[in-house]
Amino acid sequence: MKLVIIGGGSSYTPEIIEGLIKRHSSFPVSTIVLVDIDEGYDKMTIVGELAKRMIEAAGVPIALSWTTNRKEALKDAAFVSTQLRVGGLKAREKDERIPLSHGMIGQETNGAGGIFKAFRTIPVLLDIAEDIHDICPDAWMINFTNPAGIVTEALLKYSPHKKVIGVCNIPFNMQHSIAEVLEVDPSSVRIEFVGLNHFVYGKKVFVDGMDRTQEVLDRLIEQVVNYSPANIVSLGWTETFLKSLQLLPNPYHQYYYKQEAMLAKDLQSYEQNGTRSEVVQEVEHKLFELYKQPTLHEKPKELEDRGGAYYSDVACSLMSALYNDSHEIMTVNTLNQGAIRDLPLDSVVEVNCVITKSGPMPLATGALPEQIKGDILKMKAFEEQVIRASLSGDYEEAFLAFLLNPLVGDEDRAKVVLDELLIAHQAHLPQF
Ligand code: NAD
Ligand code: G6P
Ligand code: MN
Ligand code: MN
Repeated sequence: MKLVIIGGGSSYTPEIIEGLIKRHSSFPVSTIVLVDIDEGYDKMTIVGELAKRMIEAAGVPIALSWTTNRKEALKDAAFVSTQLRVGGLKAREKDERIPLSHGMIGQETNGAGGIFKAFRTIPVLLDIAEDIHDICPDAWMINFTNPAGIVTEALLKYSPHKKVIGVCNIPFNMQHSIAEVLEVDPSSVRIEFVGLNHFVYGKKVFVDGMDRTQEVLDRLIEQVVNYSPANIVSLGWTETFLKSLQLLPNPYHQYYYKQEAMLAKDLQSYEQNGTRSEVVQEVEHKLFELYKQPTLHEKPKELEDRGGAYYSDVACSLMSALYNDSHEIMTVNTLNQGAIRDLPLDSVVEVNCVITKSGPMPLATGALPEQIKGDILKMKAFEEQVIRASLSGDYEEAFLAFLLNPLVGDEDRAKVVLDELLIAHQAHLPQF
């Protein structure tokens, strides 16, 4: 069984290799091909050599190679994981710095920055999905590329390939941190998730079937639970907020419900350390120095400084569940199909699904809770608008995407930031 990892030069790749090694008896991948572009070839070679050492040390029969020839790599693939970054971390820097320089949240998956990441990414991923459809039509495409929810919806709506699932580590992180606080095994915790990627809420928390939602909300008030990944500060929620909301917010919700405090924090760390992208570039540099060492044959602990740490657990468990038709429940980005009553059937939502070999079957969550209904509908309208603008390259469509985003708001400021980002990213926006 063959797995192709597109964006193979990512510093996260050793994590997925570790996940595949760990699961080899139940998920027997025999061939892994890393794919990257010319700019990423050197990084991919370092990662590829480390991956080979990891596989050899573990003694599992996996053949691993790397290439820039995507079409060739895709032949006979059963799974394709997409974890690429169009324009690299230099482009991310602009997504973060330009909004921040105008007093706007500068986040690479939310707000203005996230919109531009989508503009750069959607056309590239549509191309890849077309190749998959032509070359390995039975393969599952597991998409991590952010903004993962928006990208997955664009693929499911506009590409001929329909076996696409979007993933994120946030629901997994929330499940694991809550398990830690309640001192129970993570596998006994089931959170009923409802919403969209990076805009998902926990509706109920069950431990071995017992509803412990209230207890978890109380611990959140005491700030005992901190499930922020490395890239987001955790400011904590007020008692009034949580008592009113009666749902578990995810760490990205701080950008919406604590916009001013988050902006102040982000500006402060920008002044001290530069953008998150610059911080990540340093982390990456250190990681690659470690990866180069011929004596290293495992994933180094330092990878935990990345916000996406543990993404491989999500990716590998999902692929294994698809392969084994396990009927496990996992939280993924997939077609709504009525799971959330108030959203269109063909919207992509982040909800719990039963994973079968024919794909994720979303579990019904009913109507949206009133306290978030308006926000979710608005965010979905925003996401749809981002997709339309990504495809048309139309200026007014792009401006409308900005207006619909709650982190952008003001029309005058929206125009200034939009214009600046359009110029800054010209090289990666052929459609505009
Ligand atoms: P990165 O900057 O290291 O990029 C990964 C690789 O993609 C690079 O080696 C680059 O050369 C390559 N690449 C760029 N364009 C390509 C193309 N057209 N074809 C093939 N390869 C290409 O990025 P990273 O920090 O490792 O993150 C990778 C992606 O994964 C990002 O989009 C990030 O947002 C996403 N991510 C998502 C989650 C999640 O929760 N969904 C978690 C972690 C990372
Ligand atoms: C979290 C998110 C990912 C995001 C990552 C950023 O894990 O779920 O979607 O890509 O953080 O981490 P970084 O280390 O790149 O800032
Ligand atoms: Mn074709
Ligand atoms: Mn994510």
